[in-house]
Amino acid sequence: MGLLEGKVAIITGAGGGLGEAYAKLFAKEGASVVVNDLGGARDGSGTGASAAAQKVVDEIVAAGGKAVANGDDVSTMAGGENILKTALDAYGQVDILVCNAGILRDKSFGNISEQDWDLVVKVHLKGTYACVLPVWKWMKDNGKGGSMVLTSSGSGLFGNFGQTNYGAAKAGIYGMVRVLAIEGRKYNIRVMCLAPGAYTRMTSDLPGRIGKEPDPMSLPENIAPGVLFMVSDLAADHSGKTLGVTSRGVGEIKMMQTKGYSPGRPYTAQDVAENAASVFFPNAEARVVG
Ligand SMILES: NC(=O)c1ccc[n+]([C@@H]2O[C@H](COP(=O)([O-])OP(=O)(O)OC[C@H]3O[C@@H](n4cnc5c(N)ncnc54)[C@H](O)[C@@H]3O)[C@@H](O)[C@H]2O)c1
Repeated sequence: MGLLEGKVAIITGAGGGLGEAYAKLFAKEGASVVVNDLGGARDGSGTGASAAAQKVVDEIVAAGGKAVANGDDVSTMAGGENILKTALDAYGQVDILVCNAGILRDKSFGNISEQDWDLVVKVHLKGTYACVLPVWKWMKDNGKGGSMVLTSSGSGLFGNFGQTNYGAAKAGIYGMVRVLAIEGRKYNIRVMCLAPGAYTRMTSDLPGRIGKEPDPMSLPENIAPGVLFMVSDLAADHSGKTLGVTSRGVGEIKMMQTKGYSPGRPYTAQDVAENAASVFFPNAEARVVG
């Protein structure tokens, strides 16, 4: 029996790249899958309607799986609601949501236009909100609970040159996971955060990658098992946590704070500077947060 037998999974941005690999693996594991994708270019321009999503659906169905396509834009409230409607019309329920759709408009900070800022934040951060909200309400109202994986990025968690718009949105998604995991406890809704690393159209032209054969371990199909783990009952004990899933394997990423300088009396800025070794890593003692 597959790990997702009898479950219904929505995957946004699943017309290519990582989302396509998740959709195919989840279907192989018994899930009925909603393959959402707006089509369009890496920078969010244009739209291929739902042709990209339909192609993935056709391949899943040809392999004996169950899937339906949806071509809505994740970054609108109507889009998010319609993605849920597609799942309910086809399968009557939803158990899993993977928010994966995304675009890039990289530039150094001073060169990012307001439009490039707004669109990247809209697709990633508002798009995650717009898709989570209706599914959250449905899971809550139907008392079934479920699991969600929201896609962040090393750019937001660690920082990366030329990606302030993208990094800000991705760090916002991390914040959403931390709060939703707390609020989801009483409804049995598990929410995890993903920082993937894969060879896709989003990353194939990164410095050092152009003209090179990709590391096979970085292909989306070799990243998807880590995400299958996250949405499945194998991860039932884990919510609110962030996993990096890359060609190097699967590992937790955690927020840390040092025990710090805490004199227990009013202090000056100079006192803090003199006690910098207690304030900053790597010498200060760590306190794990969350
Ligand atoms: N590839 C990596 O190494 C990497 C690293 C960190 C984070 N990520 C994140 O992982 C996710 C998947 O990225 P990928 O590498 O597979 O990229 P990709 O470009 O191959 O896939 C993204 C998909 O999202 C779709 N999409 C874009 N805007 C949409 C919208 N408004 N509505 C619906 N669909 C939309 C695109 O059409 C595309 O098919 C993204 O959120 C990305 O930011 C990827």
